[in-house]
Amino acid sequence: MNVLVTGGAGYIGSHTVLSLLTEGYQVIVYDNLCNASEQSLKRVEALTGKTVTFIQGDVNDKTLLSSTFKQHKIDSVIHFAALKAVGESSQIPLQYFQNNVSGSLSLLEIMAENQIEKFIFSSSATVYGEENQAPYVESYKLGSPSSPYGATKVMVERIMNDFAIAMPSFKGVSLRYFNPIGAHESGQIGEDPKGIPNNLLPFVAQVAVGKREKLTIFGDDYPTHDGSCLRDYLHVMDLAEGHVAALQWLNNNPDFYGVEAFNLGTGTGTSVFEIVSAFEKATDITIPFEVSPRRAGDLPAFWADASKANKALHWQAKRDLTTMMKDTWRWQSANPNGYE
Ligand code: NAD
Ligand code: WQD
Repeated sequence: MNVLVTGGAGYIGSHTVLSLLTEGYQVIVYDNLCNASEQSLKRVEALTGKTVTFIQGDVNDKTLLSSTFKQHKIDSVIHFAALKAVGESSQIPLQYFQNNVSGSLSLLEIMAENQIEKFIFSSSATVYGEENQAPYVESYKLGSPSSPYGATKVMVERIMNDFAIAMPSFKGVSLRYFNPIGAHESGQIGEDPKGIPNNLLPFVAQVAVGKREKLTIFGDDYPTHDGSCLRDYLHVMDLAEGHVAALQWLNNNPDFYGVEAFNLGTGTGTSVFEIVSAFEKATDITIPFEVSPRRAGDLPAFWADASKANKALHWQAKRDLTTMMKDTWRWQSANPNGYE
């Protein structure tokens, strides 16, 4: 079965490609490499002993998408390709809407032209906005995220719902990720942020490897047990396996039409201070830090109610926090400059 994976050279994409190949799927990666290196796919090939077809292209390029669908007899699409930096999205919002929303529109249009019905979308916990209380449940009304990035995810979910009404053969799944961290256990593939990392774990890992002097913890005055924010961190390989589970769910439910959303998280909140301690304990490396005022836009606490994915997809996040930390460190220490 041929699966087109847009953004498949990126962090979550490359781990998912590895899981798909392991499960016997044929994978065609479509990525413009704006935030990734083809090296990730070379390493996935070496780890799995299988081949990935790679096409360097933009999801806004309808001509190339169309020829790709025709040439490779695609059965289903997993759509990761997007820009993802929350802060940057406020500085260049038009590029975010162009990439994430227009790109998704182009993809859906060319899928429809080629009678491809199965579509798995990378959504985010950010779609719950500020209005909803943790644990987040899929039945909540979508919120109003404060960033343009978050707005693109809400918009694409809305587009999928409207599209499913207009095209009754559409089979869409929206996977709402919480906070993916970690790396494949081999240490061969992992997260390779360009410039200063925005996210917590890549920053901690770069402090550990000596690339940054100290971590800044954004706020210790939140209404949580230790004053820092709580998030639902899940291992990227669990997340990757969640995509395979969602694809299997689509394949096993031929009578399903419409759109279904699933949270992919552990169901547990962990604080920033707890993350730092867990990393230190797992690696025996001290992480120097200072506490600064809150970062604009951060919510105090959220985590998933993952029971819908647990039941329907037979999927559960299995890897614990220690494994997440050890795997992050294995990747970072073996690849201090990422894929460079
Ligand atoms: P990433 O930047 O590593 O991967 C995105 C990939 O898409 C990159 O390889 C990039 O080169 C490619 N890409 C971007 N724009 C493209 C375009 N127009 N055409 C073709 N390729 C394009 O990011 P990631 O962390 O792997 O995230 C993957 C998806 O998951 C994104 O949609 C992101 O919004 C979503 N998501 C990520 C997180 C997270 O914390 N990492 C959380 C929730 C949702
Ligand atoms: C986690 C916690 C920070 C960096 C973002 C997006 C979200 C999703 C996942 C895509 C927060 C604190 C961080 C640092 C810190 N992405 N922190 N010092 O903000 O929960 O979610 O990534 O969909 O949409 O918003 O993740 O890793 O940035 O932050 O203290 O240097 O770590 O304040 O409490 P976040 P994060």
